Amino acid sequence: MPDKSFADALNEQIANEFAASQQYVAAAVYYDAETLPRLAAFFYRQALEEREHAMMMIQYLLDVGEAVRIPDINAQQTSFADGSAPVRMALEQEQRVSDEIFALFELARDLKDYRAEHFLQWFVKEQVEEVALMSDLLNVVERSRDNLLLAEDFIAREQLGEESEDPTAPPAAGE
Ligand SMILES: [Fe+2]
Ligand SMILES: [Fe+2]
Repeated sequence: MPDKSFADALNEQIANEFAASQQYVAAAVYYDAETLPRLAAFFYRQALEEREHAMMMIQYLLDVGEAVRIPDINAQQTSFADGSAPVRMALEQEQRVSDEIFALFELARDLKDYRAEHFLQWFVKEQVEEVALMSDLLNVVERSRDNLLLAEDFIAREQLGEESEDPTAPPAAGE
């Protein structure tokens, strides 16, 4: 039996999701200051999505009667070497979160916690989409290296990262 409880591990992931949200606000602010409003809007939206992930995890803990911990806020990276650096950072962050979700999934399996395993399935699918989205955006910003206005056009035209309602998403606290 693993020595960590699923609730403890999920509380840690709640902190990771809130940190990801803060990091995306920082990326959005960087682009906003550079007058790249589409890239800024993209990351402001992603920040809300990460907050939503944390709120889904909070709702899950409430539903199964476990204690919820709300984490401190840590400072995030706000200055970047160039216009594609925030997207590179975002791709790495999504890859890291995927590994974190897989580790949670494994823990749920080890504990034979079927509710937890079922809850996590949506996040497994979500991470596939988020890693794909960030690698698409990285391709676009790297191709537009000398003129990020091209990336701005692309994001607007393709409505990159603008998600439609997902009826399979777990309920979020406060909604
Ligand atoms: Fe997330
Ligand atoms: Fe994400």
